[in-house]
Amino acid sequence: MRGEICVGTASFLAFVSLLLLIFVHVSQINTSTVPRSISLVKVNVSSYGNALHAATFDPIDGLYTNNSSASLESNAGLRQFYLFGLYSHCAYVNDSAGTCTNHSIQNQFQPYSALTSDMLLNYTDLTNFILSGTPFANSDSLGHSSRAAYWMLLLGTICAALALLTGIPKNNLTFFISTGFAIIGSIFILIGASIWTAMIKKAQSVNGLSIGTTTNPVPVGIEVTIGPALFMIWAAFASLFASIIPYMVSCCTYRG
Ligand SMILES: *[C@@H]1O[C@H](CO)[C@@H](O)[C@H](O)[C@H]1NC(C)=O
Ligand SMILES: *[C@@H]1O[C@H](CO)[C@@H](O)[C@H](O)[C@H]1NC(C)=O
Ligand SMILES: *[C@@H]1O[C@H](CO)[C@@H](O)[C@H](O)[C@H]1NC(C)=O
Ligand SMILES: *[C@@H]1O[C@H](CO)[C@@H](O)[C@H](O)[C@H]1NC(C)=O
Ligand SMILES: *[C@@H]1O[C@H](CO)[C@@H](O)[C@H](O)[C@H]1NC(C)=O
Ligand SMILES: *[C@@H]1O[C@H](CO)[C@@H](O)[C@H](O)[C@H]1NC(C)=O
Ligand SMILES: *[C@@H]1O[C@H](CO)[C@@H](O)[C@H](O)[C@H]1NC(C)=O
Repeated sequence: MRGEICVGTASFLAFVSLLLLIFVHVSQINTSTVPRSISLVKVNVSSYGNALHAATFDPIDGLYTNNSSASLESNAGLRQFYLFGLYSHCAYVNDSAGTCTNHSIQNQFQPYSALTSDMLLNYTDLTNFILSGTPFANSDSLGHSSRAAYWMLLLGTICAALALLTGIPKNNLTFFISTGFAIIGSIFILIGASIWTAMIKKAQSVNGLSIGTTTNPVPVGIEVTIGPALFMIWAAFASLFASIIPYMVSCCTYRG
């Protein structure tokens, strides 16, 4: 009976981990309620127009679009905020209406490219003048890191699923294999979570920037915040990591 409880606990923890990771994978796949509410990063640019106006004294016309279905990455106008997932990002004109890029496993986290490719070209040039050279604008570096993080998370998800499956037959050998998958999966998820945490930290460097003159600095009006999916990845790591001990105990002590 004690053995059953031990295996049950391990399976439950591996299941929770897998479920959390599946939710992370659907983040920002489209604008339906569940994918929309899960994101790794949120970039709110709603104050950028006012900041440009305050810094340049020019009227800032046509920077934003209100057309929620206008396609992304085609210089059709900036949206109010952008949410990023593993396979695509979505941009919203208000809390519920927005549009997403096509999903692709080639997708990279490049918030600066996402913003500037939506602006009219004259604003893209102005933004490049202001922000290029900042860590936020280093799309190559963020893009490469996000590729690595993606493969770590995918492998971690597969390991969590395999740990769960191999933990079902009540047998010391399969519990041993589950323990192995739980250990390897935890390592993959830990690396993926760490890379994402570092990338978001880097992107958040834009939050404190000011534009305008030294006598009249204006906050840039771009705000990067952590989305719930990052916490879900860390929770998935914690859960799979916690399953290692009960799997290990089952493997060594189970008398079927
Ligand atoms: C989002 O994707 C799900 C699953 O593919 C689908 O059922 C849903 O209709 C989609 N929603 C929108 C708004 O496209
Ligand atoms: C974006 O930032 C503005 C100004 O700080 C705030 O009023 C607005 O609620 C934010 N929008 C979202 C979706 O967070
Ligand atoms: C950028 O172009 C748009 C459309 O041509 C125009 O309305 C806007 O005033 C221009 N803005 C700047 C800062 O040049
Ligand atoms: C978009 O909507 C806001 C408020 O609803 C309005 O102030 C703004 O003029 C609109 N912009 C365009 C380009 O229609
Ligand atoms: C919004 O954008 C879509 C896609 O580009 C276009 O078909 C539609 O006519 C636009 N709507 C308005 C009101 O401009
Ligand atoms: C969001 O924008 C869409 C399209 O512009 C509009 O139909 C919808 O009513 C808006 N929703 C809210 C909550 O403002
Ligand atoms: C996105 O997918 C649609 C339909 O599958 C396709 O027509 C469109 O060209 C794609 N867009 C991009 C930017 O790849």
